[in-house]
Amino acid sequence: MPLNLDTIVSLCKRRGLVFQSSEIYGGLASIYDYGPLGAAMKRNIKDAWWKAVVEDRDDMEGLDASILMHPRVWEASGHVENFNDPLVDCKACRRRFRADHIWVGIITLPDGRTEEVGPLQTSSHPEAIELARHKKFKKKDAPEGTVIDAKTVAHMGASEMARCPECGGELTESRQFNLMFRTFVGPVEQSGMQVYLRPETAQGIFANFDNVCTSMRRKLPFGIAQIGKSFRNEVTTKSFIFRTLEFEMMEIEFFVMPGTDEEWYAHWRDARFNWYKSLGMRAENLRLRDHEPDELAHYAKRCTDVEYQFPFGWSELEGIANRTDFDLKQHAQFSGKRIEYFDQPNDRHMVPYVIEPSAGVDRSFLAFLCDAYREEEVRGEKRVVLALHPDLAPIKAAVFPLLRNRPELVETARKLARGLRKRFPARYDDTAAIGKLYRRQDEVGTPLCITVDVDSLTDGAVTVRHRDTMQQDRVSIERVGDFCVDKLAAMRAEMTR
Ligand code: GAP
Repeated sequence: MPLNLDTIVSLCKRRGLVFQSSEIYGGLASIYDYGPLGAAMKRNIKDAWWKAVVEDRDDMEGLDASILMHPRVWEASGHVENFNDPLVDCKACRRRFRADHIWVGIITLPDGRTEEVGPLQTSSHPEAIELARHKKFKKKDAPEGTVIDAKTVAHMGASEMARCPECGGELTESRQFNLMFRTFVGPVEQSGMQVYLRPETAQGIFANFDNVCTSMRRKLPFGIAQIGKSFRNEVTTKSFIFRTLEFEMMEIEFFVMPGTDEEWYAHWRDARFNWYKSLGMRAENLRLRDHEPDELAHYAKRCTDVEYQFPFGWSELEGIANRTDFDLKQHAQFSGKRIEYFDQPNDRHMVPYVIEPSAGVDRSFLAFLCDAYREEEVRGEKRVVLALHPDLAPIKAAVFPLLRNRPELVETARKLARGLRKRFPARYDDTAAIGKLYRRQDEVGTPLCITVDVDSLTDGAVTVRHRDTMQQDRVSIERVGDFCVDKLAAMRAEMTR
């Protein structure tokens, strides 16, 4: 059965992965909190990324730039002028929508039938939506032969194209709305300087290009990576943590000699695509999609998205863009500083080109959850299991006493969990019967469960149960730490695709 997003939302709430922000006050739309296990899993995703792109390479540096930057940064980057969404309001119910999220068009399918298509019809017309997304489509009720693309629709007044998806009411003409959140530096709003919460981490990297290059004595090609919060005042539809107002990005700006940019673009596109597979994501749920020229951001010469097949359709996980020398040149112009690289062999100053792989932590989190989610029937009962890669699992092993009213079993299990925790995240739990404890750990993707039973007191051994096969091994308490480390390594090797 196809996975429903509501199933994932409910698992996240039930098992402490993700909660609605400010829930006790009725919540705040499109803002979420990561619970105890969600915070651990999110950290694992970021650690895996940092290891792959910074620690495992000798051509990368890390950075942690501030969220607030000088307001001129956003003029230079083009965000003040261009970072807009087309918005429409419903004249009846006053709800607000993104015009490009609710358009309706007509497309001719390969068999000659025509279909009404649009982003809201994803579930009923997946084939038509796919065609509409990448090809031109005809405006609803337009004369035969009229074709327009999604971007045009977004700018032409959605009232012609759609009715309010909530109440069917008439929509206003679309207007541009800047997505940056504004705030003030200084104690008095009026006299203070207006600043923005950064909408991408990238500009912190560009503004520090010279600092990093000089202090670390770097030669091209090299990159700077950072992970951090970004903020966009998005008008969202219900897509859980896929599109939120506050989110985390994992961004790389890789600086190269002009002329080698195509080669590096291909390198990063493939490296980033393979990273998701290396953490167990199934190849059939991943694809690369090149941007059409009319889809490109104002700074990009080329862009490819890594897309994942979410329950609501194929959507962007990460973009790999060739940003050329646009940003460094803009910052040089707006700051009045020289931002250049000295190319020693050719004895000249030049401005590097930039390849930017830009990924969302929250979207990766959602994709890894959806990809790992399984429902199985075991002895007539439903078993929910998250087949997460062991590096992403919040807990690597859980230890239970078979009987919680036997102090010797409880003490042995607690002691074992304490010992294991020195090597990897391990949990002690005795809050339910053993079957229920297994099911709870399966649901959050814990690879190994260890049970201390009455025999453990005499044979000095415990039972280790494997998440995916439910197979059990009897292992001596002395060896169980090494056994778990080996098993996690074997799982890692098996799941790295
Ligand atoms: N510096 C390039 C840049 O900002 P982007 O495509 O706008 O590019 C990069 O964003 C990635 O950030 C996206 O692929 C997505 O994973 C994530 N992202 C963007 N907006 C988001 C939002 N509102 N909520 C969650 N993730 C978002």
